[in-house]
Amino acid sequence: QPAPRCTLVIFGATGDMTGRLLVPALYNLARFNLLNSDFRVIGVGHRKLDDDEFRRGLKHSMDQVVASRGGQASASFDVQAWDWLMGRTSFLMGDFEGEQTYAQLATMLAPEPGGVIFYFATAPTFFQSIARHLHDAGLLKQGHGRWRRVVIEKPFGRDLPSARELNKQLTRVVHENQIFRIDHFLGKETVQNILVSRFANSVFESNWNRLYIDHVQITAAEAIGVERRSQFYEQTGALRDMVPNHLFQLLAMVAMEPPNSFDADAVRTEKEKLLDAIRIQTPAEALQNSVRGQYRAGLVGGQPMRGYREEEGVAPDSRTETYVALKLGIDNWRWGGVPFYLRTGKALARRQTQIVIAFKDAGHALFRQNAQEKPPSNSLVLQIQPDEGLFFHMKAKVPGSKIRIAPVSMDFRYADHFMTGHSSGYETLIYDCMVGDATLFQRAADIELGWEAVMPFLQAWEDGGEIHPYRAGSQGPVQADVLLARDGRQWLSLD
Ligand code: BG6
Repeated sequence: QPAPRCTLVIFGATGDMTGRLLVPALYNLARFNLLNSDFRVIGVGHRKLDDDEFRRGLKHSMDQVVASRGGQASASFDVQAWDWLMGRTSFLMGDFEGEQTYAQLATMLAPEPGGVIFYFATAPTFFQSIARHLHDAGLLKQGHGRWRRVVIEKPFGRDLPSARELNKQLTRVVHENQIFRIDHFLGKETVQNILVSRFANSVFESNWNRLYIDHVQITAAEAIGVERRSQFYEQTGALRDMVPNHLFQLLAMVAMEPPNSFDADAVRTEKEKLLDAIRIQTPAEALQNSVRGQYRAGLVGGQPMRGYREEEGVAPDSRTETYVALKLGIDNWRWGGVPFYLRTGKALARRQTQIVIAFKDAGHALFRQNAQEKPPSNSLVLQIQPDEGLFFHMKAKVPGSKIRIAPVSMDFRYADHFMTGHSSGYETLIYDCMVGDATLFQRAADIELGWEAVMPFLQAWEDGGEIHPYRAGSQGPVQADVLLARDGRQWLSLD
């Protein structure tokens, strides 16, 4: 069903994020007739462009996105949907901090009786100022069927104090229920499927606790390096870029209690309770329970990749981590004593985002195996991307006169059952924002709880600690293996 009538105003319209992610998502929504016939896009940016030049720039980015998806995507490019979208897209050249921009915007939006979404796809330094100007220009006023929403991209601050300050400043001028804090991981089908797998199937829930689960692994491995974002990344690092946001959203989905309903606030309250239960470690514990790495030159998928310190804009002695592995605990009744191991990194052997639920061994070793032959314990792999699916690794008897046990797998692949298109997650989230469904967006508390749990690591690292080099195209630093080996466990390999 097409979304209600609205205009999308994108601040930072000539930036990488708009061309690479937002506009391709709008194109997908247009293709599937999910946009209102009166939908409009107004891009706001510093560059001196007219509407046509702006649209040509967007087409250039779109072509690159399509090309990266291979020949089939190029052949099936929907020119009609693209032209429809571009026909309602215009550009406003303006300074994000100048009153003039907002006066012009007010004129452009004057005849808008429906909704307006203000999307902040800018550097975070502009967030507060844009919100204040929108407020001062009266552009956030609602009523009489008119709604106004603000979408904010991560990073939401760079630590707990700055995140708190940002939330405080924003909520001075924008009502909390008008703010949609976006984490694109939550728009991924497979991430939403975590809740369906857990709460729509009765078989899992009774085993989903410390009595049956030995530990949980959450991995977001990327094969790409920092690409064109080295300036941002050098200030950010793997932990800030991925952990308190994307990885904690996965953690919350997999470990939260069942909400009473699928209502936005019911779901978000349970997620926050889980984030609140992450044990706050002392800096000394944090140092012990974390491993940082930085990639050196190597081969990824057979292609040479230069080392992080050789990237343009990166200091030759940079101490920014491009890999991080952490051990966390959750202090609640369900998870007491179950370690959660998280890892994420760039320039690794392959792209793989997954959650592994590693079950305990059977209560009694009825079938004795010699130690070398002992197959691994049961595990359930929730594969987020690529090869989306759910895989249950179990044991089976090898046919023959003797009892011998071998590892086997029961696999559910999305692609075998459903049509899966190219979606970054932004399609779902932009559409949800248009219809006013905030379930998959974060409240201020989510953000602050996430930062609170990672603060001990940031503090511990300020005073030192090593950053281990790893070869591009590898599994990451060997020290991350030691983090698990010292507990008698090992990561599921990235192959
Ligand atoms: C972004 C990070 O939020 O997520 C990037 O800033 C990262 O560094 C990206 O590459 C990963 O998203 P996806 O959807 O490609 O897994």
